[in-house]
Amino acid sequence: MKDLIHLIHTTKSVLKAPGIHSAQELKLLLNAYHGNDWQNYIGTSDNAPKTKILLENEHIKLLIIRWGGFQKTNKHGHPGGGGALKVLSGILLETRFDPIDMDRMIGKYHYFKDAITSIHDTEAYHIVENPVEQPAFSLHLYLKSNEIIAKNAVLTAVSATK
Ligand SMILES: [Fe+2]
Repeated sequence: MKDLIHLIHTTKSVLKAPGIHSAQELKLLLNAYHGNDWQNYIGTSDNAPKTKILLENEHIKLLIIRWGGFQKTNKHGHPGGGGALKVLSGILLETRFDPIDMDRMIGKYHYFKDAITSIHDTEAYHIVENPVEQPAFSLHLYLKSNEIIAKNAVLTAVSATK
């Protein structure tokens, strides 16, 4: 799909019922979007808001984030259902930590345009940063209260919307 409106509608309909959704389901939704119209939703200047919420209800949130040069989050988890992100432009660096021993680093990953990843508190806590001066943009989909289950769950609902 080429436009965010389509992604918003599809996300709303696929994730309409609170309950059990998988990380793979979130990734497939983000993967289905291959457009450039996100640039119409979020400003590129430093003064413009850094986030644009596209969809939010009691159990999901879909938003765009602009990362300034070298901007970095604190170490954090994703209570509730976890989430997924897709790089729209630029580079993001994720450092993952053991969810039981949060001082123990368990991986570092660079994500480039179109890369998609997901996270859940049972898997890891993380720090996400823009490692370069050039801004980065990413699309995020979070579940507020659902359980993310098996990554290889069968997901006909999402596949059918591509
Ligand atoms: Fe995060």
